[in-house]
Amino acid sequence: MANNFSQLARKSKANSPIEKVPKEQKRPPSLEIYKLGDDVLRENAKRISKVDNSIRILAKEMLQSMYAAKGIGLAAPQIGIKKELLVIDVNFENASADPLILINPEITNYGTTLNSYEEGCLSIPGVYLNVIRPSTIKLRFRDEMGRPRKMKADGLLARCIQHEMDHLKGVLFVDRVTSKEDLNKELMKEGFHQKDVMPIN
Ligand code: NI
Repeated sequence: MANNFSQLARKSKANSPIEKVPKEQKRPPSLEIYKLGDDVLRENAKRISKVDNSIRILAKEMLQSMYAAKGIGLAAPQIGIKKELLVIDVNFENASADPLILINPEITNYGTTLNSYEEGCLSIPGVYLNVIRPSTIKLRFRDEMGRPRKMKADGLLARCIQHEMDHLKGVLFVDRVTSKEDLNKELMKEGFHQKDVMPIN
């Protein structure tokens, strides 16, 4: 019996959801976040076929690093892992709001309204520029327990999801900036190089 119980305990632990990650992180990010110019940011991520404990551990580490770096989103390719995994928290100032963990996200619908808003990225620190994107989206994804989910997003959340999903295709927000003059000025100011931008238009 004791043996069965310990097996059960182990099993339940292996399938347990991610425990809450504190949003106030005192230490610097534990994971290295790659920067504009690093080739790994330009590669395609692969779908996650099985959402298991290793994925949940990875998501938890990504949340810790995202909060420590004061970001609102982090994609696995930014830490050099080519998997379709994103963590997002646009409610970082609200300690009790749950973050979003998106696995294999797919946008199923884009709204027809576009808007322009200033974006930044933990992989291009100090650079903030306006990007035009659809203001609403619908998407489907798997959550950290592997359950299929659907959601609608607008405002900052819709923008953040689109920005993070770009990372899964090796696209960075600077690739979408239409004002080349602003782009160069802003990159140079932070010691980044225009040659590392891959414009999509
Ligand atoms: Ni980013």
